[in-house]
Amino acid sequence: MTRVTVRPGDIDSAAIDRAVGVLHGGGLVAFPTETVYGLGANAADGAAVARVFQAKGRPPSHPLIVHLAGAEQLGDWVAHVPAHARLLAERFWPGPLTLVLRRGGRVSLETTGGLETVAVRVPAHPVALALLSAFGGGIAAPSANRFGSVSPTTAGHVRAELDGAVDVVLDGGPCSVGVESTIVDATGEALSILRPGGVTREDLEAALGRPLAVPATSHIRVPGQHPSHYAPRARVVLVEPDKVIAEAERAQGSGHQVGVLLPPAFADAEVKAHAVVELPASMPAYARELYAFLRELDQRGCDLIVASPPAERGLGAAIANRLRRAAGPRPAM
Ligand code: TXA
Ligand code: MG
Repeated sequence: MTRVTVRPGDIDSAAIDRAVGVLHGGGLVAFPTETVYGLGANAADGAAVARVFQAKGRPPSHPLIVHLAGAEQLGDWVAHVPAHARLLAERFWPGPLTLVLRRGGRVSLETTGGLETVAVRVPAHPVALALLSAFGGGIAAPSANRFGSVSPTTAGHVRAELDGAVDVVLDGGPCSVGVESTIVDATGEALSILRPGGVTREDLEAALGRPLAVPATSHIRVPGQHPSHYAPRARVVLVEPDKVIAEAERAQGSGHQVGVLLPPAFADAEVKAHAVVELPASMPAYARELYAFLRELDQRGCDLIVASPPAERGLGAAIANRLRRAAGPRPAM
């Protein structure tokens, strides 16, 4: 895959102007971030935000992240910024960290799904930042995919899934992080990770100088936490790393078209399967390509994907989380 790097000088300002016009008119703009592509609407415009839910096929009770050009805009969107949240914002923004805080007056009810809290982040992508600065307000944006499916990491993925439902697609090249932002509940004293992502637990704890709390798992309150999210069409089966090849060959032998995410330790092995992806050894590279690999195995006609979640350290925690969700039970279609 070729990597396109967008520098500030390369930004198509006519396209940004068009996108800003669309946002002011209540329309939808897909835009690149460092994590995944977002499907954006004016966060202060409830009717526009409702169109996002419609385009994604997402239940309206599931809240969106408000994207801002910088932490100095926080005051418009949140009621209060506790000191620990301010510290994390200063350390990790722009970047793949989302903070859940008490909501302020400007955010539409549609954006927060009726919650008293709001999720906010400042993305680290020159095109996203150019769009946010030119627009001036908050952009509510979920990942630009149909509800439950794999997030898009290129403009091509967005067009393949949402063509016709989006007014403008801004192309900023492939996303550099490749998995969604880490969501931290910063409403109370005990900070906790609601969704692992591009900023690691280790880096958050180093910045805070204390461990994060373990979140209560008894109540599912966000869609990214449901089983079967981030899922390709093919069914996903997870096994121990040293069982990947045997499980893939067994399933292929029983009539499946098997796609394999092959751990790097087995890179030279012959695997009797329909399609094999040799995983990169580095976690940043794996995270960057994960969703493209899943899409590719779907495209190559696989009906079953065999993989092994990496150790839950660093970015491995986000990758393992997405693979587990992809392997989760599916709702009946
Ligand atoms: O990297 C990302 O976060 C990407 C890019 C586009 O910024 N966005 C993204 O959005 O992944 P989405 O909608 O696919 O996932 C947002 C998650 C959902 O699980 C949602 O429920 C949760 O954020 N969320 C939003 N507001 C929340 C709130 N007030 N409290 C708890 N969770 C919230
Ligand atoms: Mg999503």
